[in-house]
Amino acid sequence: MSLQLGDIAPDFTAETTQGPIRFHQWIDGSWAVLFSHPKNFTPVCTTELGEVARLKPEFDQRGVKVIGLSVDPLAEHGTWAKDIEETQGHALNFPLIADSDRTVSDLYGMVHPNADDTLTVRSVFVIGPDKRLKLSINYPASTGRNFEEILRVIDSLQLTAHHSVATPVNWRQGDDVIIAPSLSDEQAREKFPSGWNALKPYLRVTSQPRT
Ligand code: BEZ
Repeated sequence: MSLQLGDIAPDFTAETTQGPIRFHQWIDGSWAVLFSHPKNFTPVCTTELGEVARLKPEFDQRGVKVIGLSVDPLAEHGTWAKDIEETQGHALNFPLIADSDRTVSDLYGMVHPNADDTLTVRSVFVIGPDKRLKLSINYPASTGRNFEEILRVIDSLQLTAHHSVATPVNWRQGDDVIIAPSLSDEQAREKFPSGWNALKPYLRVTSQPRT
């Protein structure tokens, strides 16, 4: 059965561009993003890795470690890294796993044989400090991902991990939030003393709590 939200993200050892890692040890109580790209020296992947390098300070600011993966050998990662810096203007500043035997890809279900039986799809896994899977998405090889959206989801996950709220459609940091339906009005009054706007009894909108 495929990995599901709430499952413990499987542990593994792997070779990376920053040396060998044991995944759970590497996470070390942080949030983490593990993402696959289908293949080195391909155009869309080149743009994606440059973008993640550009956004690395944003991930750092949120306490999130980022790690990429492809089924290419380690020696090729190094050569391709030079192309990424040259064409995207950002040098790789996070580790890339070399998963040429597909151990990690198979563990995480990143190869979808009916799409392509040798390469990974574009998977993203967001893992919490408890090592449980908080988000997984899969994109086809032909569509580059929007990593600003991954940051937006992380903002929501980190907010809802600490407050009894959910975030509405297209929510962004600082926007109003929704009081969790599991809270009664009485419980909500304790947590949200400045009140809320009840559009329906189940749709109670309030300001974003400060951390
Ligand atoms: C790309 O990154 O451009 C790509 C990779 C694998 C298949 C198709 C496109």
